[in-house]
Amino acid sequence: MAVVVPEAVLRHGDARPMPAVGMGVAEYPSTPERTRVAVLAALEAGFRHFDTASLYRTEAPLGEAIAEATRRGLLASREEAFVTTKLWCTQCHPDLVLPSLRESLRNLQMEYVDLYLIHWPISVKPGPMVFPVKKEDVVPFDFGGVWRAMEECHRLGLAKAIGVSNFTTKHLDKLLAVATILPAVNQVEMNPTWQQRTVREYCDAKGIRVTAYSPLGGQNWGGSANYVMESSVLTEIARARGKSIAQVSLRWIYEQGVTPIAKSYRKERLKENLEIFDWELTDEDRLKISQIPQRKRVTAASLFSPDGEFTSVDLPDIEIVEE
Ligand SMILES: NC(=O)c1ccc[n+]([C@@H]2O[C@H](COP(=O)([O-])OP(=O)(O)OC[C@H]3O[C@@H](n4cnc5c(N)ncnc54)[C@H](OP(=O)(O)O)[C@@H]3O)[C@@H](O)[C@H]2O)c1
Repeated sequence: MAVVVPEAVLRHGDARPMPAVGMGVAEYPSTPERTRVAVLAALEAGFRHFDTASLYRTEAPLGEAIAEATRRGLLASREEAFVTTKLWCTQCHPDLVLPSLRESLRNLQMEYVDLYLIHWPISVKPGPMVFPVKKEDVVPFDFGGVWRAMEECHRLGLAKAIGVSNFTTKHLDKLLAVATILPAVNQVEMNPTWQQRTVREYCDAKGIRVTAYSPLGGQNWGGSANYVMESSVLTEIARARGKSIAQVSLRWIYEQGVTPIAKSYRKERLKENLEIFDWELTDEDRLKISQIPQRKRVTAASLFSPDGEFTSVDLPDIEIVEE
């Protein structure tokens, strides 16, 4: 039997409600074919919420899989899927926002996205997306101009909802001061080992839905430890509940009123990651999780090459770590 996934209504009225767990569609290195096959497997498992970005280069295979699922009758129509994509830092300039969304829509072969996010509160000189970013290429972020262009995307019906990602309360303050349409979502790194209490409290008060990336501790790109999957507290809770560590983490995030975006390209794990709605953690589990030492993985510095200097911004202004 297909899992029934709860949905959350976003503040922008014409947006489709957001399914309470999303599939992350980012894998390095990957091939379009792996992504297409994984998204079809996710649709079969019951996923209806997908998270990509222009940076990930997976918009095209995601769109192909959704079109194929519609042809095969797995989806009644594209409207059944909730699709998010993101604006990369090199495009965070008022005149580049709409063309960037149009390019994403061409890749996705879609008329609209359900959610369009500013990927980072960082603006880089226009040019190709390269890693690591050169510090001297970072320029001041034009919150008013970029957000007005995001609002235009929404007004044109090309983005049913608009929002941000990796924004701290400082960045949100700057955005809210100039916004006519408030952001519907802030997507941030969040899991039991980085609980984002400050950002969540702020977003709850402002009616901004928080979505959680790296809900399972993230992919092992740098060969570093995974604090979620290796947590002794989560291991113990998983054993006691007869669940996996991944499920405990996803369930905890869901219980916080946050939507986890978990990446797996494996059929069994996709299924497992949706099976979090018919059981709950105990108060004792929640207390233990609240006491887990906090460690954030992704920082602004992780975007940049170690050499070079910032010439027109200060690092604290673009930092995304907030206790
Ligand atoms: N806004 C941002 O700046 C930002 C940053 C990072 C990520 N994201 C988004 O968030 C998504 C998820 O974050 P993430 O990719 O960093 O990490 P994640 O979802 O926390 O972890 C993914 C890793 O966990 C493994 N995994 C998945 N399900 C599992 C399970 N049930 N048991 C054991 N291992 C499991 C996956 O391997 P397999 O695939 O082999 O199963 C993969 O290596 C991304 O795909 C992307 O869409 C956004």
